[in-house]
Amino acid sequence: MADIKRRQFDSLIIGAGGGGLRAALQLAQADASVAVVSKVFPTRSHTVAAQGGMNAALANVLPDNWHWHMFDTVKGSDYLGDQDAIEYMCRAAPKAVYELEHFGVPFSRLDNGSIYQRPFGGQSQNFGGEQAARTCAAADRTGHAILHSLYQQNIRAKTHFFDEYFAVDLLKDEEGQVLGALAFNIHDGEPVIIEAKTTLMATGGAGQLYRTTTNALINTGDGMAMALRAGVPLQDMEFFQFHPTGIAGHGMLITEGARGEGGYLVNADGERLMERYAPKAKDLASRDVVSRAIATEVREGRGCGDGNHVMLKLDHLGEDVIQKRLPGIRQTCITFLGIDPAEAPIPVFPTAHYTMGGIPTNRYGQVVVPVKDTPEEPVTGLYAAGECACVSVHGANRLGGNSLLDILVFGRAAANHIIEHLGEHRYHKPMDENSIEQAMQRLNRWQQTGEGESVSALRTELKAVMEEHCSVFRNEQVMRHGVEKIEALAKRLDDVRIGDQSNIFNTARVEALELENLMNCGLATMHSAYAREESRGAHSRIDFPERDDKQWMRHSLYSLENGLDYKPVRTKPISVDSFPPKPRVY
Ligand code: FUM
Repeated sequence: MADIKRRQFDSLIIGAGGGGLRAALQLAQADASVAVVSKVFPTRSHTVAAQGGMNAALANVLPDNWHWHMFDTVKGSDYLGDQDAIEYMCRAAPKAVYELEHFGVPFSRLDNGSIYQRPFGGQSQNFGGEQAARTCAAADRTGHAILHSLYQQNIRAKTHFFDEYFAVDLLKDEEGQVLGALAFNIHDGEPVIIEAKTTLMATGGAGQLYRTTTNALINTGDGMAMALRAGVPLQDMEFFQFHPTGIAGHGMLITEGARGEGGYLVNADGERLMERYAPKAKDLASRDVVSRAIATEVREGRGCGDGNHVMLKLDHLGEDVIQKRLPGIRQTCITFLGIDPAEAPIPVFPTAHYTMGGIPTNRYGQVVVPVKDTPEEPVTGLYAAGECACVSVHGANRLGGNSLLDILVFGRAAANHIIEHLGEHRYHKPMDENSIEQAMQRLNRWQQTGEGESVSALRTELKAVMEEHCSVFRNEQVMRHGVEKIEALAKRLDDVRIGDQSNIFNTARVEALELENLMNCGLATMHSAYAREESRGAHSRIDFPERDDKQWMRHSLYSLENGLDYKPVRTKPISVDSFPPKPRVY
């Protein structure tokens, strides 16, 4: 493998969304040499699409504190979230917001000049009391504002970017320690070995598993699949979030901020449906509750139009509020539906949005795996942060506004741990040539042309199987068929070819590599979901409608070699009493 280009850095970050860029900035400012590999230009990473905002108990609008935020997050997670990580995140949130403010993020402002905060779902004052207003927003383009500021700060700090390079697989030494990755330049196809003392995965989620999704085309679970292939099991993959308000039939996100500003859902009878499902929180119940409510209305014949959606009403808010607080979604509706939400309601239905599961980590961002009798030991030099990771602050259901918070808090925490690690591990280690060869084989496999299965046809089938067999409501029979179908699809990967010799672009190779990654994530999701015989958070089994804390208050771990295993939830916070499981009502 002597002829492959090699580059050396202290730290490699794969993915240039908010998690990757926040970590990169911390490292670059600490004088580490840091490389960020991104398959798209960094400011096209999916963080750019985050709309409604980022949670932090600043108490700018209503009374608030981090401990209430922690309670809401534990409850929102349906008690599957790890409480040490949740405490850490909620305590760190205000600082994370003020840091962003100093990096130049143009948050919306209140009349007194402080950062604007809106109510979001699942938020409460005083441990389950009145609605809180905790979500710091830059209108409805918060992710866009954050990503651009972080990118600019990284340019100033001299972070090295490999823009439009695709990371193929992790590379190791002979002992199995991760020492970087093989990537290739999408422009000219040239591979590059990036050697690093630490590697941070920050590749985002796998929303492209589903046909109707808020996620960008790039969200193909690449980092999760790389971890799986490197022998790291994926945690809690059965928990996939469906955002209640995607544009019906299309999936584009209509921010929860729309309901935070006072919008509400109505069914075909014009009834405010959430009053029946969540009498107190109504439209600001947590997402799993609202998504199930909408799906139930449609299933029971109270859907609007062709019967397949409900309506989100905003027109009563007035044009001024909509233009000031929700200009992005207004434009989206006008462009894609020809509807101005200041005048008419928006047709909405739950749409795939967020991967709660992922690469297991501790609260320092270190990837952890079970070793002998211990549930988790850190993997030296390997880190993960953001949606590809499962730290686990979201457990079985993420609260809106906790995703931007997660990427920023744990991107920073991982970088701080990496800085310590670099202080103790000063030299690069030699890579195992076999590891490089294996990664090159995978890359070269996707140069095979000629007759065979088409990438796009298989991908379409995969999405259809996931949507039909692993959606908002699940049961044994539907999921058993789902497992059979996805196993059969995975076998057909061997027959995939990327087209005719005369007609090949590197993007075709990227799509094939992405399909393989999606398939790995789909297998993990379907198998983990089939096995969990209870209803918890976003995993709603019609045949097991209750949460079963005795049997199932545990994290799943799915690996390619050994299938499913489980490990305990970290119920002990850092400094406060734990929140014991309770019935979850809104
Ligand atoms: O509804 C939204 O604006 C999405 C926010 C989130 O997923 O955190």
